[in-house]
Amino acid sequence: MPLPVEDVKAQVPLVDVVNAAVRLQQSGRYLKGLCPFHEEKTPSFFVFPERGTWRCFGCGRGGDVISFVMEREKASFVEAVESLAREAGIALSQQEERKRSRQQILAQINLEAAQLYHRVLNEAPDAARARDYLAERGIEQETIARFMLGYAPNRFDTVRKHLVQLGFSPEDLTAVGLLTEGNRGPYDRFRGRIMFPIRDARGRFCGFGARTLSAEIQPKYLNTPQTPIFDKSGLLYGLDLAQQSIRERKQCIIVEGYTDVMMAHQHGETNVVASMGTALTEKHVKSVKSLTTNLVLALDPDAAGSAATLRGLEVARRAFDRVDTQVSVGDIMRLESTLEADIRIAVLPEGKDPDEVLREGNGAWQECIDTAVPFVDYAFRMIARQHDLSSMQGKRRAVEALAPLITDIGDPVARQQYLKRLAQVLDLGIQSEVLMNLMHARRPTRQSPRAVRPNDGEQPSANGQEQPADRLEKYLLGLLTMHPEARGLAAEVIDAEDFHQPLFRQAYEYVRAAEGNGTASVGESEEGVHELLDRLRRERSIEPPIDEEYLRPTVIAAALRLKRRNVQEEYEDLQLLLASENANENKPLGSQIRQEIRRIGEQLRQVNRALKQTSFIRTS
Ligand code: UTP
Ligand code: MN
Repeated sequence: MPLPVEDVKAQVPLVDVVNAAVRLQQSGRYLKGLCPFHEEKTPSFFVFPERGTWRCFGCGRGGDVISFVMEREKASFVEAVESLAREAGIALSQQEERKRSRQQILAQINLEAAQLYHRVLNEAPDAARARDYLAERGIEQETIARFMLGYAPNRFDTVRKHLVQLGFSPEDLTAVGLLTEGNRGPYDRFRGRIMFPIRDARGRFCGFGARTLSAEIQPKYLNTPQTPIFDKSGLLYGLDLAQQSIRERKQCIIVEGYTDVMMAHQHGETNVVASMGTALTEKHVKSVKSLTTNLVLALDPDAAGSAATLRGLEVARRAFDRVDTQVSVGDIMRLESTLEADIRIAVLPEGKDPDEVLREGNGAWQECIDTAVPFVDYAFRMIARQHDLSSMQGKRRAVEALAPLITDIGDPVARQQYLKRLAQVLDLGIQSEVLMNLMHARRPTRQSPRAVRPNDGEQPSANGQEQPADRLEKYLLGLLTMHPEARGLAAEVIDAEDFHQPLFRQAYEYVRAAEGNGTASVGESEEGVHELLDRLRRERSIEPPIDEEYLRPTVIAAALRLKRRNVQEEYEDLQLLLASENANENKPLGSQIRQEIRRIGEQLRQVNRALKQTSFIRTS
């Protein structure tokens, strides 16, 4: 039996569900009230009972009864349907019932365990050391209660005994990660540690982080493993307590540590959450999206610095059980553009974590947050710093390092914005040759913006079809491979940069250089180049040779078409850029771009004119 979506929509009146959350007033055929999803003083939230829909004209959200519950409870579609069905007494399939009740049981187990740990921390004699530790760190009683901190005694059967007594099965206790399997049966996973219960946005107890009390014991934090209700990569610690404040302040601050979150809340900075030792993911951003899309990552300078240094792009911090910590610039750019988020980075003073900055007082924290810079600008700057930007060559290298990130962006407008920001960071004029090369660099992905990486020329692209752009390059290179005498001719029209596939570009450089003496070096990828040239030679040798008298116009036409492709795309890019600049009311840049558009436009006309003159020749 599928989810009873239609039954729910037919049987649960939207007005009833909304009424539980919003004070509605009748106003003609509809009802209105203050939107529960954003701050407002005058009502712009409307419910249309006849159609069973709602819409807020303030924040743009809207939908049916299911989407209302999804927003309201931070629930998934399935969860929303299930919860509505249950309230309305609509039967769910047995399978769904089972899954759901199993998840409820697991969350209940965690809740019971958290309460036990909490009691132990507050009362047990052998938790004295833990209490002292927390007191030393300045964590107040109220904070301990709010986050429901606990202590797991240094024994093997505290949780097992207590929860089995309450009627839960050892299997379920293992499934939820509280017990681990030993030779003589399951025993408590967490021992002698301070317990941080991890709740999701709806306050369900999903898992635990557990901190040692002594530096010798590793890992410092032992976390619940992946379970049916604990997915580390999607959870934000503290979100259940922070959401109200995130909405009000229109900003969500993401730190790294559990303790940082607690201390922030203790200092009244209640819009702070932590990603649990993992990189920011799409799930994270989605889980706060209904509250705000303004995110600030407060990273300590170590992480912030290396985020951009390791292989230029990403950092992997590996320590014990925190394996997959990656902050990838490309990922963040994708998050920003697909989820329309504004992700900034607040760099904390050297050697300090948020906890210490907060403690410092004097508005030090607020200052860090207020001076946060857009993540991408920051990352660009970090990467740019590795190159000598006083030379054109250095700039070119920096562009090369950053080009793949920008070319990956699916949305053309976002792509242009990043391009512009890159130009600013590198202090390049928008018409600079280097930047034009960057624009070129993304050509190979143009036909399928998301899927395919620049094709190395060895294989047709993922969908099995050769891309038209690749075909042009291949055709011309094939011609030049077979007809060394025509290479100089092509060089009058194009240069190596006109080939966008890196391997083709190298191969072209090679055949150009080899023209005189028949040998040339292409360095590292020599092998690839030779393979490519051999392949082209084989393929072309099947075709009839080109008569000498047609060779010249054939080569010129092929080169011109390649040129036209590039100039055309450059032209389109500039138009896009101009549009986005106009939108930003960036006047001075706008006139620069317009000038450039005129120049490129003239080039385009020239190429087209030249092509017309050769058009009596059929070339491919
Ligand atoms: P930190 O070492 O900065 O932790 O790691 P912290 O919370 O600030 O701890 P204090 O201040 O020393 O008490 C940041 C986060 O990385 C994850 C945890 O989520 C931690 O809060 N982490 C760290 C692990 O999961 N395992 C570890 O061994 C260490
Ligand atoms: Mn810390």
